[in-house]
Amino acid sequence: MSDEIEDAPKPLHKNEQLKAQSNFLRGHILRDLLDESSGTITEESGQLTKFHGIYAQDDRDLRSQRRREGREKAYIFMARVRVPGGVCTPRQWLAMDAIADARGNGTLKITNRQAFQLHGVLKGQLRAAIHEVNVALLDTLAACGDVNRNVMCNPNPHLSRLHAETLSIAKAVATHLLPRTRAYHELWVDDILVSGGEPEEDIEPILGKTYLPRKFKTVFAIPPSNDVDVFAHDLGFIAVADDDGGLAGFNITIGGGMGMTFNHVDTYPRLADVIGFCRPHQVVDVAEKIVTVQRDFGDRTDRKHARFKYTVADRGPVWIRAEVERRLGWELGSARRFEFTDTGDRYGWTEGPNGDAHFTVFIENGRVKDDAKRALRAVALIHKGDFRLTPNQHLMIAGIAPADRPAIEAILREHRLDAAHRATGLRLNSMACVALPTCGLALAESERYLPDLVTLLDAEVEAAGLRDDAIVIRMTGCPNGCGRPYLAEIGFVGKAPGKYNMYLGAAFNGSRLNTLYKASLPAADIVPTVRPLLRKYAAERAPGERFGDFVIRAGIVKPTGTPADFHDKATVAAASEDAASL
Ligand code: HEM
Ligand code: SF4
Repeated sequence: MSDEIEDAPKPLHKNEQLKAQSNFLRGHILRDLLDESSGTITEESGQLTKFHGIYAQDDRDLRSQRRREGREKAYIFMARVRVPGGVCTPRQWLAMDAIADARGNGTLKITNRQAFQLHGVLKGQLRAAIHEVNVALLDTLAACGDVNRNVMCNPNPHLSRLHAETLSIAKAVATHLLPRTRAYHELWVDDILVSGGEPEEDIEPILGKTYLPRKFKTVFAIPPSNDVDVFAHDLGFIAVADDDGGLAGFNITIGGGMGMTFNHVDTYPRLADVIGFCRPHQVVDVAEKIVTVQRDFGDRTDRKHARFKYTVADRGPVWIRAEVERRLGWELGSARRFEFTDTGDRYGWTEGPNGDAHFTVFIENGRVKDDAKRALRAVALIHKGDFRLTPNQHLMIAGIAPADRPAIEAILREHRLDAAHRATGLRLNSMACVALPTCGLALAESERYLPDLVTLLDAEVEAAGLRDDAIVIRMTGCPNGCGRPYLAEIGFVGKAPGKYNMYLGAAFNGSRLNTLYKASLPAADIVPTVRPLLRKYAAERAPGERFGDFVIRAGIVKPTGTPADFHDKATVAAASEDAASL
């Protein structure tokens, strides 16, 4: 190969051209929505609607039946509603509840990034659904796509004095980084047909005409809780208290991310690096400059290498920090000390300082449906505080007034939501991504399977005397990592129907990734594989020792060394042999 060819720049990924030619995210979305000959939209429009919070999907349970009948797939849409910091009003809850019934499949999904998802929306209902979301003063703008997504924040209003201020900064960052194009409003809110729109040449000063190379996720953590899983995100801010308990500022983290692709050893989950410290009033500027560094240096040729974590890994956090400081025109401070204890939620009642109280409801995998949905609707009709979606897919009914508490307590009791959090420590720390039947990328079950698996494992947990021990267990239907499985003490990642890679040994506080323990484990072998581990842990653990730490100390797995530790070496070797023989 000549030097000339070697040095030729790699072509941009086709999505880059699509974004550039979309007239700021309009493309042909409207034309496709109005086309009644199909229940879905074109592939190109499907890429663009993500920026508007919408995924084109199909009901995978119905695929073979539809094929037999010679009909097109059972097309549906998923709409993700952005809820910065996870905080919404009872009115907004009621609106979401009603939209799910009228326009979706009657359920609400609380996601582990503090958003709502509406599932099963038919094409003909989509514009009405999104319009109604906006009437409720919520939106789906930038909930998916190559942009800064929903900004997360620890939801506990009384965790510390830092909370209210941190939440308002999180909201300011969320707003500042939103796309500025009018396309979203034209398409979904104002009901004005998009005729190509007015020229908007300079409309995106931060994101630019082609937006970011890939999705970008920002979170705010308030120690000692790491419920937001700060190290799993592109950009994180860790609140630091001053000597009086007020907000001194934030440690800044960059370059975390979960997703990988099986057998591609140059894709891997990565923990974020702490690169410095800034004051509260500097956060918006810091976030903007970090986003622009990724905008300018992220890889736009290969979407499997386009996340900020690869930019950070390739150039190094020191280089990124220097580039950010150059753009800021000032230097970041040195990172301050911080300590995280755990990533979980605090269920049940918490008493506030002024007689108000909060109740965190355990909602398995965040799926609000049936009786629980009716109960929460009844609560929303009385409640005057707010609702807070937690980063573990649960719900905090926050700021319950003393006068309303008896009535809310009665509803929770009647619908047995007051007792849901008396489950085992394993179930209370379980999390699954959506996967089948809606997610087009799922290779195996997740949300529909994990509850049953935990029921089987509960028997083992009880037998080992570990009923009340919190052990973090997470499952996803594919390696993209939506349920943050690589930060679980026990993680399952779908490989094929009924088969999972099993990972062990992440830190309970989210500061260490896990390691591959078994590749392609059949579902039927999971309980016999986990049983001896639980027994050994119960018998041999040191006082206070967490399961994830124990499996490393006991030599069951090694702590993660290199990115390749996430891949099954046998299948990687077989895949490269196949490639070599082609
Ligand atoms: C290449 C990487 C990824 C792709 C292509 C991807 C794609 C998707 C898709 C298609 C869905 C919709 C599933 C459904 O509702 O039917 C989804 C859900 C979701 N994803 Fe991802 N995802 C990726 C990585 C991640 C990562 C790393 C995170 C967070 C750390 C994440 C967070 C979520 C969340 C919170 C949901 C909502 C459902 C839930 O709470 O489990 N995703 N993703
Ligand atoms: S992890 Fe995979 S299967 Fe699960 S929601 Fe994400 S993309 Fe779908």
